[in-house]
Amino acid sequence: RFIMNFITDDRWKYLADGLVVTLKVTFFAVLIGIVFGFLIAMVRATYDKTGKLKILNLVCKIYLTVIRGTPVVVQLLIIYFVIFGSTQISKVLVAIMAFGINSAAYVAEIFRSGIMSIDDGQMEAGRSLGFNYAQTMFYIIMPQAFKNVLPALGNEFIVLLKETSVSGYIALQDLTKGGDIIRSRTYDAFMPLIAVALIYLVMVMVFTKCVNLLERRLRNSDH
Ligand code: ARG
Repeated sequence: RFIMNFITDDRWKYLADGLVVTLKVTFFAVLIGIVFGFLIAMVRATYDKTGKLKILNLVCKIYLTVIRGTPVVVQLLIIYFVIFGSTQISKVLVAIMAFGINSAAYVAEIFRSGIMSIDDGQMEAGRSLGFNYAQTMFYIIMPQAFKNVLPALGNEFIVLLKETSVSGYIALQDLTKGGDIIRSRTYDAFMPLIAVALIYLVMVMVFTKCVNLLERRLRNSDH
C-alpha cells in the first residue's frame, strides 16, 4: 500500500527534491572543502618545512581548532541564526557554507598528513635537481601525496554526504528531512525512513566502488 500511495500521490517528490538538495549541498561543500583545505594544508606544510608564513599558520591553527572542536550542527545553527540571522539568505547556501567550512578543516589535515607522508629526501632531491620550493612541492611531492590521501579523501566525501542529513536543523528540506516530512504526514515511520536510509546506502556504495577503481588505477600506474 505504501508503494501504491507513493506512486499515486506526490510523496515521492519529497524524497526526489530532498535528494537533489542533499547532492547539491554535498557537491559544493566538497569543492569548498578541497580548495580551502588545500590552501590551509599548504600554509601549514610551508611553515613546518621553512618557518615562513608564521602569522597565517597561526590563523589556520585557530581555525582548525575551533572548527574541529565544535559540532557541525552547532556551526550550522550559528551561521544560519547568528551570522545571517537578520538576512533572508538561502538555506542551501548556508548549508553549503557550513559544511564546506567544516570539511575544509578535516581536508586540510588529510592533505597535511599526505604531504608529511612523503620522505624529506624527495624535497632534497627536487631541490638538488634545480627545482625551487614551489616546483618541488607541485611536481614531486603533490603527485605522490595525492595517491596516499585518496582513501581518506573518499572517506571525507562519504562523511560529508551523510553529515548533511542534519540540515533539517535549519529546516532545509534535504533527503532526510523529506523522509521525515512523509513520516509526520502519513504516520508511517517505517517505509519513508527505511527508503531514506537505502538511498544514502546506495550512494555511498556506488561512490566507494568508484574510489576503489580510481585507487587501483593509480596503483597500477606505479609499475
Ligand atoms: N559529526 C561530527 C561533528 O559533528 C563530524 C563532522 C564532520 N566531519 C568531517 N570529517 N567532515 O562535528
